[in-house]
Amino acid sequence: MLNGSDKVRTAVLVSGGGTNLQAILNARGDVIRHAEISLVISSKSKAYALERAKNANIPAVVISAKALGGREAFEQELQRVLEAHGIELIVLAGFLTILSPEFTRRWDHRILNIHPALIPSFCGKEYYGLHVHEAALARGVKVTGATVHFVNEIPDGGEILLQKAVEVLPGDTPEVLQRRVMEQAEWILLPQAVETVAADLLKAKDPS
Ligand code: GRF
Repeated sequence: MLNGSDKVRTAVLVSGGGTNLQAILNARGDVIRHAEISLVISSKSKAYALERAKNANIPAVVISAKALGGREAFEQELQRVLEAHGIELIVLAGFLTILSPEFTRRWDHRILNIHPALIPSFCGKEYYGLHVHEAALARGVKVTGATVHFVNEIPDGGEILLQKAVEVLPGDTPEVLQRRVMEQAEWILLPQAVETVAADLLKAKDPS
């Protein structure tokens, strides 16, 4: 599966603003030394994340489940594109399409996701984007944070890799809390997790 190079060819899947993609791009050569960000795939044609990929000269494609008529056709095209680019590791960074159990099994322990809460709190199908922070504020938690986990067939249910706590402050709005969780947790954890998993994949290939 690995291409014999000293870096793991990695695809980042996005749907929105791409601030987590940007954190990964900014970490190359510093925190991230064993992953090559080879491809960006967006499920939305207007995602600003595509602009970030262009500015960084990273090849980017749009694959839309809606345009392709459903998840099966979407995943067939996704798999085709990933193989065409020799991708070995997938990072979901604000990616909003739920992947099928078949797809996640095929890429077992090779798909990472960043969730903007401390799993198992505020996670699962209906918890994404601002909804996560609205729920945290509604529950009145004093601490929230972010989690990086492997992706399996259960939304936000895979093995937890990294977590980081973030304080909830009096008067926080969902937008203010989201930004703090991004700055203090997501943008730190995701590059770290990409590096750790990429280095482990290379070690598994060449244990010497
Ligand atoms: C954010 O809510 C983030 O917490 C989650 O996806 C949303 C968009 O992130 N991972 P991004 O700016 O597109 O990376």
